[in-house]
Amino acid sequence: MSRSPATGRRPILKMLGWLTGALVAIPLDRLLVSAIRPAAAQTFPIQLKGTHMTHDSSAEVDPYRLPRHVVPTRYELRLEPDLAKATFQGTERIALQIAQPTHTIVLNAVDLTIAQAAIHEGLGRQEQTATVDLEPDLQRCRLTFDPIIPPGEWWLSLSFGGILNDKLRGFYRSTYKDPRGVSHTIAATQFEATDARRAFPCWDEPDFKAVFSTTLVVDRNVTALSNSSVLSKTAQGDKTVVRFADTMKMSTYLVAFVVGPLEGSAPTLIGATSLRLWAVPGKQSLMSFGQDIAAASLRFFESYYGIPYPGDKLDLIALPDFASGAMENLGAITFRETALLVDQHRGTHGELERVADVVAHENAHMWFGDLVTMSWWNGLWLNEAFATFMEMLAVDAWKPEWKRWDTFSVSRAAAFAVDGLHSTRPIEFPVRAPKDAEAMFDVLTYEKGASVLRMLEQYIGPAVFRDGVRDYLKTHAYGNADTKDLWISLGKAASQPVPELMDGWIFQEGYPLVSAELADNGELTLTQQRFTYLPSSASQAKGLQPSWHVPVQIRLRAGAMSGTRRVLLVDRSTRVTVPSETESLVVNEGGHGFFRVRYGPSLFARLLDGGLNHLAAIERFNVLNDAWATTVAGLFPLSDYLALTGRFTSERDKNVWAVMIDSFSFLNRIIETSDRPALETFVRHRLGPAVSEIGWTPHADENDLTRQLRSELVGALGRLGNDSSAQTKAEELYGQSRREADSVDPNLVPALVSILAFTGDAARYEEFTERFKTAATPQEERRYLFALTAFRHPSLLEQTLAKTLNGEIRVQDAPFIVSAVMGNVYGRHLGWNFVKANWDLMDRQFPKQGLRRLCGGITGLATPELEEDVRTFFSSRHIDLGGRTLEQYLEQLRIVVTFRQTQSAALPGYLQAAWK
Ligand code: BES
Ligand code: ZN
Repeated sequence: MSRSPATGRRPILKMLGWLTGALVAIPLDRLLVSAIRPAAAQTFPIQLKGTHMTHDSSAEVDPYRLPRHVVPTRYELRLEPDLAKATFQGTERIALQIAQPTHTIVLNAVDLTIAQAAIHEGLGRQEQTATVDLEPDLQRCRLTFDPIIPPGEWWLSLSFGGILNDKLRGFYRSTYKDPRGVSHTIAATQFEATDARRAFPCWDEPDFKAVFSTTLVVDRNVTALSNSSVLSKTAQGDKTVVRFADTMKMSTYLVAFVVGPLEGSAPTLIGATSLRLWAVPGKQSLMSFGQDIAAASLRFFESYYGIPYPGDKLDLIALPDFASGAMENLGAITFRETALLVDQHRGTHGELERVADVVAHENAHMWFGDLVTMSWWNGLWLNEAFATFMEMLAVDAWKPEWKRWDTFSVSRAAAFAVDGLHSTRPIEFPVRAPKDAEAMFDVLTYEKGASVLRMLEQYIGPAVFRDGVRDYLKTHAYGNADTKDLWISLGKAASQPVPELMDGWIFQEGYPLVSAELADNGELTLTQQRFTYLPSSASQAKGLQPSWHVPVQIRLRAGAMSGTRRVLLVDRSTRVTVPSETESLVVNEGGHGFFRVRYGPSLFARLLDGGLNHLAAIERFNVLNDAWATTVAGLFPLSDYLALTGRFTSERDKNVWAVMIDSFSFLNRIIETSDRPALETFVRHRLGPAVSEIGWTPHADENDLTRQLRSELVGALGRLGNDSSAQTKAEELYGQSRREADSVDPNLVPALVSILAFTGDAARYEEFTERFKTAATPQEERRYLFALTAFRHPSLLEQTLAKTLNGEIRVQDAPFIVSAVMGNVYGRHLGWNFVKANWDLMDRQFPKQGLRRLCGGITGLATPELEEDVRTFFSSRHIDLGGRTLEQYLEQLRIVVTFRQTQSAALPGYLQAAWK
């Protein structure tokens, strides 16, 4: 079940749902792809300079950028949240360097009331008060002084106040009920990308780095955490005044405050760094796994980067309400509970891997992001792609048996899926307004970015790559950097120019399909062309055909001449001579290249006949994934793809199976209802033998990956295959696991729950609702919550939808639930009608990114009628989801519906032919 949105193995993950890569789980935020469409005639490479306004002219050119003649160097913040009233009061003193005489100081502030602003040259010196004008549209505050302020060093003092909102951004309120049903409140922050300005007036751009000295005034007996260690705690009336040490010089988006009833784990010392986890009371037993990977990854990064951890302590804090998965505030990383707290013995492999991934990712950011920060949001990939890449390295080093890089194929496939759209964007992309910055947190920044880094690392060699990274971090520590700075450091280490190789991957959208043809004379021709699912329009086709510098590694099976050939494909086409003994060959050996491969008929036949056994898991993944993508793109016959899956029935890699299962659920979305039994029979033929062989219970010496594979196979057999004996068995085992938890492998439980939801009635629905409310772990809670989207009866799915608006489901989860109902073929009409009917209410209740998350679900509305209705709805309401998000969802939907229109009539025949 792990791959259904309802029950996905990774928290807050969702499937693209329209294509294999697609069906793979990736964090939903990343699907919120987008950004402004590049100018029509834009040629590559896009100039970095143009996207990052020069400082002196920025005020005139770009109203979203602050003028640079006033620069903050230090903030002395004092904040007093009132948890009961959900408000906060604050004062701050900001040390400024003023470079030229000025009447005005412009800084960021939004949804704050500013009571007072004054400037003075030092304590006890005469103050000059300012007139304060708020500019809500630009999220700025303009202070005007008369007379003019001469250049020099100044202190700016401000007092301000605001509300602790329930939108999970800025300074916000998270609530939870203790086991006795008593409600408690936590005040917490989420500032990235541009929401520090909601908590205190500030220069809220990543390259205005400053030192922060924070004081929190809080009720006695509550925990107060911030970025650095506590200097002092003093009683003041019924309050405690908590002073924190100075931070390093850092960006505003990394500042954090958390105040509330939290309990910490016992600290682990990593060198001089004290490392602790925090959560609401009663969750200590779920901390050990997170603490282990936090310690291991911190050690790993200190050694890889060759630089000590830059903070003075490290707190990892689980919050009951959290917008994304986790946030890398220096020294005070915040998480949603599923991403940090897990029962080491009862979590599934996927759930444990998720915690390891997120913790390692955020720790990686302490250097990549916090110590060295991108200059502006157009370069977000320098933060996020790197943290994603480093997360893989650290988890792989910690648990090599998890084969993390094999599973990274799933992430790469997700990037391929979005980057194969005409509405994709380059990794680095212009950003102006805050919503453009938000739109950058997508699969292209993270998964494509990490993929191209992996490709480069493998090309220049891991040790050379690491040396380049070390140089980059040392050179820019406590400062900011751009992509070109990274190329300089990597180029130094590699002794070769990097921009030629890499700029195409970063500044140009899309990726190549490399076709390989072998001629009788032993000449292998490699040709590159851009891969898209839909054909190019006439105007696109007329434009310049893009090309890339593609590092192609080919492995030949040719008797004594066997081995690897490395080719840098620069032109549209190139020729490689291969030995006449060549029996088969694989293009993209190791699978690290960010390109798809299409083999000519004879090469493909040789690869399948004998060659397949010689492929690594990642290579088999790519063969199948590319075959499926080219099928969806109309370049490979569907009947051939279905026959091809028959070659993989003895496959035992969970990720390769995931490609297959996901392609079957894609077909399930487009098949006519009356033909569905044919698909079910086909699925049973493909999956049945593997399930019989692997069995329902693990062998004593079985590894985690096989346990996870069993769960994937069984879940798909019970749902997609509608296999009655699997359904009976699932019911039996589920009952057994309820009676005696440890008698069933935890990895199997998600599959059992998903099958029972699929076959479930009202009584089962009640039972699962109760389990959701009384779950013992965040993972269990999430599992039953998403199970509520996987039933088939409309009346039950309607109850689930209602819970997203009546407070029963947290707003951090609600958009995903609505989206998951739309992704359920039995719920898609209902789900869509619910969206249309409640759009305005959801817009008010859900967090800022909520509607965008939810709209990812429209890609499941795979009928021509629904597509038509979706288009009408969005255009008549003039809905803009930010960047190119909506365009991308609509293009994905177009692809699925096109496929349905061209293939669904013939599909039952193909299915029968393929299993016979
Ligand atoms: N910096 C992000 C958090 C974030 C996401 C801030 C979106 C603003 C908008 C953090 O480092 C991150 O990437 N979190 C991921 C989890 C991670 C393991 C990929 C997330 O929240 O999905
Ligand atoms: Zn990140």
